[in-house]
Amino acid sequence: MSRLIYFFTLIIHFYDVNTANILGLFTHTGKSHHMVFEPLLLKLAERGHNLTVASFFPASNPPPNYNEISFQGLHELGLESFDLNAYENSKIFKRIPRIGSIASQLLQFRPFAIASLSICEKLTNFKPLLEALKGDYDVVLLENFTSDCMLGLIYAYGINAPIVYIMSGTPMPWSSERIGANDNPSYVPLITAPFSSRMSLMDRLENTLINIILKEWYYNEIQTKERYILEKKFGKIQDLRELGKNVSLMLTNSYHTLNGVKPLVPGMVEVGGLHLTSKREPLPQFIEKFLNDSSDDGVILFSFGSLVKTKSLPKYKEQIFINALSKLKQRVIWKFEDSDEEGTLAGNILKVKWLPQYDLLRHEKIIAFICHGGLLGMTEAMAAGKPMIIVPIFGDQLSNAAAAAEAGVGIVLPYDDLKEDILSNALQTVISDKMRTHTRLVSKIWHDRDMSPLDKAVFWTEHVIRWGMSTHLHSTARNLTFYQLTLLDVAAIIIFTISLLIIMIVYLIYKFLHIFKKSTKEKLL
Ligand SMILES: *[C@@H]1O[C@H](CO)[C@@H](O)[C@H](O)[C@H]1NC(C)=O
Ligand SMILES: *[C@@H]1O[C@H](CO)[C@@H](O)[C@H](O)[C@H]1NC(C)=O
Ligand SMILES: *[C@@H]1O[C@H](CO)[C@@H](O)[C@H](O)[C@H]1NC(C)=O
Ligand SMILES: *[C@@H]1O[C@H](CO)[C@@H](O)[C@H](O)[C@H]1NC(C)=O
Repeated sequence: MSRLIYFFTLIIHFYDVNTANILGLFTHTGKSHHMVFEPLLLKLAERGHNLTVASFFPASNPPPNYNEISFQGLHELGLESFDLNAYENSKIFKRIPRIGSIASQLLQFRPFAIASLSICEKLTNFKPLLEALKGDYDVVLLENFTSDCMLGLIYAYGINAPIVYIMSGTPMPWSSERIGANDNPSYVPLITAPFSSRMSLMDRLENTLINIILKEWYYNEIQTKERYILEKKFGKIQDLRELGKNVSLMLTNSYHTLNGVKPLVPGMVEVGGLHLTSKREPLPQFIEKFLNDSSDDGVILFSFGSLVKTKSLPKYKEQIFINALSKLKQRVIWKFEDSDEEGTLAGNILKVKWLPQYDLLRHEKIIAFICHGGLLGMTEAMAAGKPMIIVPIFGDQLSNAAAAAEAGVGIVLPYDDLKEDILSNALQTVISDKMRTHTRLVSKIWHDRDMSPLDKAVFWTEHVIRWGMSTHLHSTARNLTFYQLTLLDVAAIIIFTISLLIIMIVYLIYKFLHIFKKSTKEKLL
């Protein structure tokens, strides 16, 4: 009997994680990133954990066990601040094939590096954060984006807790290697590359080069510099690349049905769709009326998300959209920042300042979505089963778009040489019965999972709380050097042995022929 009780207390001890102290540190300034983390954080609070969350986006109505530290004001926020006109000016790169593509993929990380270092510098002197770091935590949640500053801070404060990385998108080039997941560039497209998993020889060359360069760049331009910043204040800190290997779990906001199949390890869990709620808010009256009054042909939704302003589209590009869209039988709702409160109507197009995107995508009248390849919007369209026209511009949008096209739920159009007839043709394809039916099917597969993405993220976070700082979810690949991982040493031995064998065989044949010649010569004599 007492054994039984002992056994049960043991079980309760292991499974009772209700009192866990959770620290969340989110230093990226993009709102869309935080929209992914917040549902998980709030759900963890709802389950009774004690949360301390530091970020640029404080929750609007936090429960009492949710302590917030606001970074607001420490750095400019990345909301609606991407100007398409600035992009027009950087087009020269695109003129040179391959090299231009590589250059633009590398250069686009520079602003992130500058922001990351400046934020790191400020946060190492930010009192409220440093106070919070003195607490006792059972797990630390971090965003895995373009900074490892928090990793160093955690180390400096001697916080002895497992680390969970949450990624708002698909893994960054430097993410997979440390947890031991395979990111073989022969079929795993890089987050910045415009490739699907089917690559030509030149694509693979480009994908491989960028893969190698970006990892080194990240180490030299961010990890090393952040380490200097931290060391100025806290003294010696371990190499951040090495510290990165201590992460226990990575949650990625991707799901293979939409984002393509990539090799995972148990510690890399796909929770794509984490930010979606089943709740529906009533639509603004004027939008609902516009939908109600539309014909059975349906309505097309057009939005470039929260970061890119469509009002900054160059006039000639805006005209291409207007021309192609106004020829449709369908009505169009366009998110356009420079419109009236009640929307601006021109022909079949209603321009609105702001729109409840996911509520609209789920509306039965909406039949297709024109977007820029932001992962959140695409995930929403996937969940709603609506096909997409994707006009990717920068960052992860090109790879998101390529993956959606590979899944057959999207058509990718080049932003640089967008033409009216290309757009018109693409519109006819996405509103065709064939593509809409296929997209609904893929959407059902996307929804069919063992548990909801939010429950899954909660389960794995609590798993890590239960079992502490172990690395049982990693593969040992993370400990191998480049040549070991790529089997260059083994290949060298094999090539060497085969070459040796060939040399020996050639030599023996030569010898044999020589003897043979000699003996025939002797016979003739
Ligand atoms: C919750 O976390 C805060 C901040 O770290 C801490 O001050 C407080 O004591 C914690 N509460 C419990 C019940 O552990
Ligand atoms: C992301 O996680 C990996 C694996 O732990 C680590 O090597 C990398 O430095 C992290 N990057 C960021 C930006 O947190
Ligand atoms: C990281 O893990 C290694 C080995 O498990 C351990 O020796 C080291 O102290 C850890 N570092 C931190 C900062 O937790
Ligand atoms: C739109 O149609 C629905 C269902 O027919 C109706 O309930 C709703 O009141 C209508 N809304 C407007 C603004 O006309």
